[in-house]
Amino acid sequence: MAKHPPRLLTGIKPSGTPHIGNLVGAIRPGLSLSAQRTDAAYYFVADYHALTVIHDPKEMTRLVREIAASWLAFGLDPSKDVFYRQSAVPETFELAWVFSCVCGKGLMNRAHAYKAAVAANEEKGDADPDAGISMGLFSYPILMAADILVVAGTQVPVGQDQRQHVEIARDIATRFNATFGKNVLPIPDAIIGEDTGVLPGIDGRKMSKSYGNVIPLFGTSKQLLKVVRRIKTDSSMPGEPKDPDTTLLFQIYRHFASSEQTAAMRKEYEAGIGWKDAKDALYDVLEAKLEEPRRRYDELMQDPTTLDGILADGAEKARAVARPLLDRVRRAVGI
Ligand code: ADP
Ligand code: TRP
Repeated sequence: MAKHPPRLLTGIKPSGTPHIGNLVGAIRPGLSLSAQRTDAAYYFVADYHALTVIHDPKEMTRLVREIAASWLAFGLDPSKDVFYRQSAVPETFELAWVFSCVCGKGLMNRAHAYKAAVAANEEKGDADPDAGISMGLFSYPILMAADILVVAGTQVPVGQDQRQHVEIARDIATRFNATFGKNVLPIPDAIIGEDTGVLPGIDGRKMSKSYGNVIPLFGTSKQLLKVVRRIKTDSSMPGEPKDPDTTLLFQIYRHFASSEQTAAMRKEYEAGIGWKDAKDALYDVLEAKLEEPRRRYDELMQDPTTLDGILADGAEKARAVARPLLDRVRRAVGI
C-alpha cells in the first residue's frame, strides 16, 4: 500500500573490534545496497542490543565509536543516509513496551538465541534452564521490531541468522495492526543477501572474534603485515604447485584483489609460488584497500566530537520520522 514508502534499514551490533570478515560480510554488502538507491537508507548502531552482552562501560563506548567510524571510513555518506545510535532515538523504547503488550510470550520462547541459551543450560545439566539468561536476551526480538518499525522500515537487509527476528517483527506489526488499526505499521521484509561467503580466519576456521583468528580492519601497516605472516600454510616448498581453491591465503586474497589480479595469482599458485611471496602479495592487496579507510578511521577516532556530531544529526533525522509514528501508535492504543 502506498501509505508506507519503501525504507531500507539495518542495525549493526557493536559487539567486537571490526575485522575484514565484517567488511566482506556486512559493511560492503550494506553500503552497496544503499548505493543502488536514491532514497536515504537508515543505519544505526544497536548499542542497547549490545548491552545484552557487553557490561563494561568503557568497552561499550569504545566499540560504538569503532563500529561507527568503520562504516564511515568505508564510505557511508551521512549526508545521504541516516546514521545514528539506537539509544539516541528514545521513541524506540516506548514502542518496544507497546509491542511487549501485543507480542505473545510463546513467540519469544521460540526465538533461536533464547532457545540456544536454554539448550546450553540443559546440556550443562543446570537445574534452572533459564540460568544466566537476562530479560534483555529474552525480549531481544521485541526491541529489534521496535528499531525497524519506529522509523517505518520496510526492507531489512540482514544475515541468515537474523531472518527469524525480522519474521517476528512482521508478526508483531501484523498483530498490532489487527488489534489497533489497519495499516498503522508497515509489514517489513527481510532482505537476505546472496551468500557473500564466509571469510576464513588466519587458522582456517571462520574468521570470528570469538576464535581470536581475525585480521583487524584497522591498525598499522606493520601490524597488518605481522598478522598476514601468521596465516596458516602447509609444508609445501616454493616451486611445488598449490591448489588456490583450497589455499587459505588465496581465499582471502580474492576478496581484495581485482579480477585480473585474482586470475594472475591463480596461475602463480599453480606454478608454485612460495608462501612468503604469496603472503607478501596478500599484504599488498590488503594494504592497498585498507590504507585510505584507515586514514579516515584514525581521523574519526581521534575526533570523537565530530563522530558523535554525525551520529547526533542522524538521530535527529530518525526522530523526525519516529515522533509522528509514535504519536499515531499512541492514538491507536488510546494513550
Ligand atoms: P564475529 O563472528 O566476529 O563475532 P559478528 O557476529 O559480530 O562477527 O558479525 C557481524 C557481521 O559481520 C555479521 O553480518 C556477519 O555475518 C559478518 N561476518 C562476521 N564474520 C564474518 C566472516 N568470517 N565472513 C563473512 N562475514 C562475516
Ligand atoms: N540483531 C542484529 C544483529 O545481531 C542487529 C540489529 C538490531 C538489527 N536491531 C536491528 C538488524 C534491526 C536489523 C534491523 O546483527
